[in-house]
Formats: sequence, structure tokens, C-alpha cells
Amino acid sequence: MKSFDVAAVVTGGASGLGEATTRALAARGAAVTVLDLQEERGQALAAELGGHTTFVRTDVTDEASVQAAVAEAAGKNRPLRIAVNCAGIGWAQRTVGRDGQPHDLGAFVRTVSVNLIGTFNVLRLAAAAMSATEPDDEGERGVVVNTASIAAYDGQIGQIAYAASKGGIVGMTLPAARDLASVGVRVCTIAPGLVDTPLLAGLPEEARTALAAGIPFPKRLGRPADFAQLALSVIEHGYLNGEVIRMDGALRMAPR
Ligand SMILES: NC(=O)c1ccc[n+]([C@@H]2O[C@H](COP(=O)([O-])OP(=O)(O)OC[C@H]3O[C@@H](n4cnc5c(N)ncnc54)[C@H](O)[C@@H]3O)[C@@H](O)[C@H]2O)c1
Repeated sequence: MKSFDVAAVVTGGASGLGEATTRALAARGAAVTVLDLQEERGQALAAELGGHTTFVRTDVTDEASVQAAVAEAAGKNRPLRIAVNCAGIGWAQRTVGRDGQPHDLGAFVRTVSVNLIGTFNVLRLAAAAMSATEPDDEGERGVVVNTASIAAYDGQIGQIAYAASKGGIVGMTLPAARDLASVGVRVCTIAPGLVDTPLLAGLPEEARTALAAGIPFPKRLGRPADFAQLALSVIEHGYLNGEVIRMDGALRMAPR
């Protein structure tokens, strides 16, 4: 996609990777609709960025909620061409705990529901709206960028729910791209390693340094801006499709 003079939706856009992507897209002139549960942060970001950035409180797992948000984005007098899925949650628990207790089933369902089903919900509804737009001169109508994790490949002890949810996103990337080829919508997924978002910012400096030391190169945590830069590259690169891209400084996570 050559022009960012389009409408975009970014889920999880009120924080971390989604916020960085929202900022980067808005800086390039896109009319971004931020979809997130965090009302205060989302409204503050939209007010700060001004212009065409708006916030719609959205639960990505809820059909009507996403329909309403996508409708707002599609109504912004430019074609909806970009959807970036960053909304996600973590969960850490072993399949069977040291105390012999099995993994909480509700927590597993919730993690898969937000991370995998929420991503699919936005993917399908955003792609349907994109399919109704006029294609550009390359026949492209839009691009969807999902966020998995290297845990999809190297899930650690206690990451079974999270890794399963992210593995599902990896697995649906190619069939989604194939399904949407007929309407000119590309689908790619980014699988980040350790990125310094509010999630990791809560750790003590010592723990953050130890995490960074395990990364081959560069020996630092990823920055949200690294993710945003890659998301924009994927959006711009019209020949990238159906691919999952690791962004991890060559990190391969050990069992624990
Ligand atoms: N930070 C990392 O190191 C890292 C690494 C790999 C993958 N990821 C993935 O990147 C994505 C973004 O992570 P982050 O680090 O920016 O986290 P974050 O917690 O800063 O942001 C996630 C956002 O998603 C929103 N959200 C959660 N559930 C939602 C729902 N049901 N509907 C709408 N919004 C919802 C939250 O309110 C939050 O604003 C997640 O999918 C995460 O799994 C992060």
C-alpha cells in the first residue's frame, strides 16, 4: 500500500505495541480508530493526536462491539484499508501445578477467546468492510497485521494457554491470506520477542537486564517503536502476504 491517506483500526491501541502503531500511523496521516477496553487511556491518546484519530471502547471478543467500531472507521470519508490486531492478554499457569491442581479451564478459554478469537473477529469484520471499498491501482483493498508472539513457537513452562492462543494466530495467517486473496486483502502476522511495554516495565531493573542479556543481538529489549516500524513496513510492502515474521533479536526461549 503506497498511501497512508486511508482509515485504519488498531486494537489494543491504547497501550504498548498498539499505542506505538497508532502513533506511527497517525504521524503518516492515517485516520486511526483505536479499539480498546481502556477508555481513559484511549480517549487521552485520541485527544493528544487530534485530527482524525478517534477512540471507540471495544471488546474484541464481542461481535456487536467490533461491528460498531469497524462501522465508525469505515465511515471516515476515506477507505478503511488497515487493521492492526494488538489487543491481547497474558496468563501463566502450568498444565498441572506443583500442588497437583489442573490448569484453570476458564483461564485457558479466556486467553484463547481474547487473543485468538478476538483477532479473528476483528480480521473478519475489518476485511468485510475493506472488501466493499474500491481497490487501488494494484488491486489491493487492504491489509491486516496480527500480533502473535515467539511463544507460539518457543512456549515456556506455564505458557500453555498463551502459546496456544498465539499458535492459533500463526496457524490462521496463511488460510486468511488465501481466503482474502479474492478481495485483494493481505494478511501478515508479527511474532514479537520481548518488547518493553507496560507489561515488562513493571519488572525490577535487575530482571529487565537479565532478560535483555539473553537476547543475542541487539542486547536490549525490543521497543514498541520497533514493532510499529515493522507493522508499517508490512503495510507498505505490497508483496508480503500470508507470512509470520519474528521480531526478536534472534532470541529462542528456553523451557523456563
Ligand atoms: N510486550 C511483549 O513483550 C510482547 C511480546 C510478544 C507478543 N506480545 C503481544 O503484543 C500484543 C500487545 O501487547 P502489549 O505488550 O502492548 O500489551 P499491553 O497490555 O500494553 O496492551 C494490550 C492492550 O490490549 C487491550 N485489551 C485487552 N483485552 C482486550 C479486549 N478484550 N478488547 C479490546 N482490547 C483489549 C488492553 O486494554 C491493552 O490496552 C499482545 O497481543 C501481546 O500478547 C507482546
